[in-house]
Amino acid sequence: MFFNKKADSKSASEVLRADLMPQHIAIIMDGNGRWAKAKGLPRVAGHQRGMEVVKTITKAASDLGVKVLTVYAFSTENWKRPASEVKFLMGLPTKFFDTFVPELIANNVRVNVMGYIDQLPGETQKAVQDAVAQTAQNTGMVLNFALNYGGQAEIVTGIQAIAQQVADGDLQVADINEALVDQNLMTANLSPYQNPDLLIRTSGEERISNFLLWQLAYSEFVFLPQHWPEMTAEALKEAILIYQKRDRRFGGIKEG
Ligand code: FPP
Repeated sequence: MFFNKKADSKSASEVLRADLMPQHIAIIMDGNGRWAKAKGLPRVAGHQRGMEVVKTITKAASDLGVKVLTVYAFSTENWKRPASEVKFLMGLPTKFFDTFVPELIANNVRVNVMGYIDQLPGETQKAVQDAVAQTAQNTGMVLNFALNYGGQAEIVTGIQAIAQQVADGDLQVADINEALVDQNLMTANLSPYQNPDLLIRTSGEERISNFLLWQLAYSEFVFLPQHWPEMTAEALKEAILIYQKRDRRFGGIKEG
């Protein structure tokens, strides 16, 4: 075993192994509303604080050598929230990128967006498109925003694209395989890191909530008790340490 007893008394960053670093980390940033409520603040104060935490975790993940960090910022189901909260959430990308793009560039981080972007307000679309363009030359970590994203809708869209190829006579049904499905999902441009190694969800809830349903097939799940506004770089490292202690077999058996 690679972790000796002494490791328990060391901080996570001291014992993390670079060779076992998860290449793609996906995060369900849950608990903004409950964090705010517990403090007697409006829910949107939790989202505002949560946005600042995205910056902290982006820098931490980039420093650790993570290749892709996907954050679930707005789901296709989040439109059901009160209009005032949706409006606030739609304004966050502008606030986030207005203040953070220079640091993203300084850290060589490239922004990517996945989801039904054309359904977002024009200003929100422009904010994310500008950030994508401004960071397009960066070669380090990809910060991948899931915005108006839903896993089931993504799979339906992918099936439609594949079915269209069959209908057009460009594809045989027998040629539909896992790789082709990969290529028709919203994560196709993240290849070879399209599937998360590690999924983190904060706030103690233990469910996927329509996030990356296909891509999480062999991911390790780590559920953290703290709400997203309380997430720290150290807690990220602790989650990675838990991941590094897991035995990933991908359906096979352990060798040796
Ligand atoms: C879940 O908490 C959080 C969201 C639906 C929004 C996540 C958005 C951010 C963290 C802001 C980052 C965004 C950008 C563009 C940088 P919740 O509201 O469901 O919390 P609750 O379960 O306690 O109510």
